[in-house]
Amino acid sequence: MPKYRIALMPGDGIGQDVMEAAQIVLDQIALDAEYVPADIGWEFWRTEGEPLPQRTVETLKTCDCALFAAITSKPKQEAGAELVPELQGKGLVYRSPIVRLRQMFDLYTNLRPCKAFPGNPLNLRDDVDLVVFRQNTEGLYAGVEFHPLPDEVRAALKAHNPRMAAFDAVPGEDVALSCRVFTREGCRRIVRRAFEYAQAHGYPTVTLVEKPNVIRETSGLMVREARKIAAEYSGIELWETNVDAMVMWLVKNPQNYGVLVSSNMFGDIISDLAAQLVGGLGFASSGNIGDDFAIFEPTHGSAPKYAGQYKVNPTAMLLAVKLMLDWLGEGEQAGALEQAVAGVIAEGRVRTYDLGGDASTLEMAQAVARRLKVP
Ligand code: NAI
Ligand code: MG
Repeated sequence: MPKYRIALMPGDGIGQDVMEAAQIVLDQIALDAEYVPADIGWEFWRTEGEPLPQRTVETLKTCDCALFAAITSKPKQEAGAELVPELQGKGLVYRSPIVRLRQMFDLYTNLRPCKAFPGNPLNLRDDVDLVVFRQNTEGLYAGVEFHPLPDEVRAALKAHNPRMAAFDAVPGEDVALSCRVFTREGCRRIVRRAFEYAQAHGYPTVTLVEKPNVIRETSGLMVREARKIAAEYSGIELWETNVDAMVMWLVKNPQNYGVLVSSNMFGDIISDLAAQLVGGLGFASSGNIGDDFAIFEPTHGSAPKYAGQYKVNPTAMLLAVKLMLDWLGEGEQAGALEQAVAGVIAEGRVRTYDLGGDASTLEMAQAVARRLKVP
């Protein structure tokens, strides 16, 4: 039996293109693994009313981890209109399959490295090496939301917090409420992952990005827990910054930072900004990591206008494979893959359109695979 069982979820649009690119590189690495294809995305929403079929969830339960490429998602009304006629009018509701997978498998860490590869013409600076740890399952993306605001919810909030009275005059249908839910354990474990990473990779600081001066309860809880955890790691300093200041510093002096940790929405925002410092969507990969399962993905979406054209940059997907190899404990293979990607970028001969070239997605993956062959 192979050592690993890995699910492959290409999804929609360019997801298919970049997953093919990943397979070229995986074939070259010849990992002792069995690859299991699994259905996800728009096609399954349209035809089955379920973008994350139960058979996919069952497959994932039998795997060590998964690679996911990208899916298409659309607003509520369009989603309903695209269902096949037999499924229309049944009250089916589209919910993002990747957000559901994060919650279902408790993949509480979103790991997003942003490293500048020398010679990448899209780098804003060449000395950026950031890793964002974003809480992945709670906070503002927990899905605890109301619109219209039910009277009972309003009454309960008012009973416990006098500030709610400021909205007394506004009718429920004119109020939308999204709750930012933090748990002590949720804060502790994401901060701990950030410190463990800083220790393992020799980063001298961990920067906590929140807003405790205004969002006193949730950000406040995160700061207090982070300080306790920081005390367990002598030699790594905890820096505390406010998210609004942090985005300015990341543009001005990104080279001063290493490991960043934040809650779900702030982490989402700062990691997109950090990704753009080092080339943007074609280079940004991420890991959704729990205690015993993980899903690795490029952060870009399905880019429908390029679907099936094999034009887009496979680097983000290949770096997701690199993160997967690291997580599996195949550090040597992970390092070799990163070096091969860096080599192709530095050489600059095989480049996709975003880098100013005309190589295809698969040609770029083949160039990386060739470098893996000759160390
Ligand atoms: P997108 O990331 O799919 O593409 C935006 C633009 O970025 C593309 O038109 C292209 O110019 C560029 N781009 C993206 N990936 C690239 C790559 N690998 N190489 C070179 N250029 C690249 O975002 P968009 O257009 O906002 O969304 C398209 C669909 O994808 C939507 O349905 C959206 O909901 C979905 N989406 C899915 C995500 C996921 O699967 N995790 C994440 C973001 C969006
Ligand atoms: Mg995002």
